[in-house]
Amino acid sequence: ADVHYYDFTLKEMNVTKLCVTESILTVNDLFPGPVIRVHKGDILYVNVTNKGDYGITIHWHGVKQPRNPWSDGPVFITQCPILPGSYFTYEVIFSEEEGTLWWHAHSDWTRATVHGAIVILPKEGTTFPFPKPDAEEVIVLGSWYKGNLNAEVNDAMANGSDIPHSRGWLINGELGDFANCSSETTYRWSVNYGKTYLLRIVNAVNDDQLFFAIANHNLTIVGLDAAYIKPIATSYVMISPGQTMDVLLTANRPLGQYYMVSTQFLTESAYMNMDIGSAIIEYTGDYNFSSSPIFPDRLPEAKDVEAAMRFTGLIRSLADEDYPISVPLNVTMKMFIVVSMNYLCRNRTYCDDPTAHKIIASSMNNISWANPTVDVLEAYYGNISGYYTTDFPDRPLVMYNFTAKDKDDDVAITDEATKVKVLNYNESVEIVFQGTDVIGGSGVHPMHMHGYSFYVVGMGQGNFNNETDPLTYNLIDPPKANTFIVPKSGWLAIRFVADNPGVWFWHCHFDRHLSWGMDTVFIVKNGETEETSIRPPPSDMPACIFSKHDISI
Ligand code: C2O
Ligand code: CU
Repeated sequence: ADVHYYDFTLKEMNVTKLCVTESILTVNDLFPGPVIRVHKGDILYVNVTNKGDYGITIHWHGVKQPRNPWSDGPVFITQCPILPGSYFTYEVIFSEEEGTLWWHAHSDWTRATVHGAIVILPKEGTTFPFPKPDAEEVIVLGSWYKGNLNAEVNDAMANGSDIPHSRGWLINGELGDFANCSSETTYRWSVNYGKTYLLRIVNAVNDDQLFFAIANHNLTIVGLDAAYIKPIATSYVMISPGQTMDVLLTANRPLGQYYMVSTQFLTESAYMNMDIGSAIIEYTGDYNFSSSPIFPDRLPEAKDVEAAMRFTGLIRSLADEDYPISVPLNVTMKMFIVVSMNYLCRNRTYCDDPTAHKIIASSMNNISWANPTVDVLEAYYGNISGYYTTDFPDRPLVMYNFTAKDKDDDVAITDEATKVKVLNYNESVEIVFQGTDVIGGSGVHPMHMHGYSFYVVGMGQGNFNNETDPLTYNLIDPPKANTFIVPKSGWLAIRFVADNPGVWFWHCHFDRHLSWGMDTVFIVKNGETEETSIRPPPSDMPACIFSKHDISI
């Protein structure tokens, strides 16, 4: 295995979008940030120097980091922030991942501008489970916000109001031809007729599911979250924030220019962003083009839940001799976790008054996660009490008809706490995530687990039925992912073996829901040997020297 060294310097940079020049935090003056390239099994050291104005952390999304939670990154979960003027070196250990992943800031909402792709090639001497593509292209889908996003989110959190929504969709850092003042800088990718390309697509958007399509070209999806899947031929994809996809595209259409577009897939009724993010694929060669590039004609509508679920339902693990799967069949630990939007009650009488201004929150099993001031990993490893408790419930505290339309408003009220779930080493875990319909409708939740990939064994509409739904589980070729959606008013069943000791964050990958508390932490205990235990910490972990009010999430 090779060892790679990267330097990331974070500092503010001016960019002009939507006719306005604003300062954003970037890595090495690049937006999106640098692409990391490794082979499966390599080790990477990234020295992060913070020359920005506030504390930050970086997370290596989807990298399992065996026994090494110290470099995982989520703020106040596995580390305290890297303060302005200081640095920290992450050690990123690649094990079974192969395909595309990404890295992003994991403090405040900084990941809106601090993110980049990770390309993990097959081990030297091995190849892809499909014909070798002629070339590759990284496509990072992002979202653009106006103003100082972190400051606005922190204000909104402090007074319990709604969080700002994005003002447009980016493809490789550019809004494209359909946004104001943007057509000069539209991202262009040139292709050669007859060649096959491997697109490495990252949904780095903070808060939205996306549809993505390329005019007149079929897409063949071959990988999800750095695991290969059975090829899916499709005209569009639905991709959740946090997810990554490997897609084959053959340039076999008449020479010309074609739009690549990203649009919102939306299930919450509250807000709709009809913007179109676009880039242009241009064939090389001699041809006349006088008209504008061709636009995709088979892009689903924003609210086409059916199109989104149809696509999602097609995803299957490769599950063959060369890429076997290991979905646990005998579950030793079952959890049922209700993921919901809520109102937070810091003082119950205040919430009981129907005219009172309620604080927006979200929760898992009626507990809205509150970050501690010393990260959970440091408190756990150092046996420091007082920062979290280990009583995260295996079942919801309040039972009700989760997806019924008319519910008592009381079920929306939740408590705030720092409760973690402790798992024994090698436990076979099943979690059913149940969505709800409280507070005027529900949306989907792209649930993300750190330190692991999980098998998606089941998914369905309505309330989970403990008798009949398990009979529908796919234990043959379920998709393996690190992020997967709980359908609107539905449920998602996942399984994994707890074989990576550490402190691992579990959260919704919508930053809105993450900030509002749809998070918890799994502590996976050590096994009996050193090889099955958390490694000792590096000597230079950032110190937890200040209150969480200096940085909030
Ligand atoms: Cu992509 Cu907790 O992160
Ligand atoms: Cu969510």
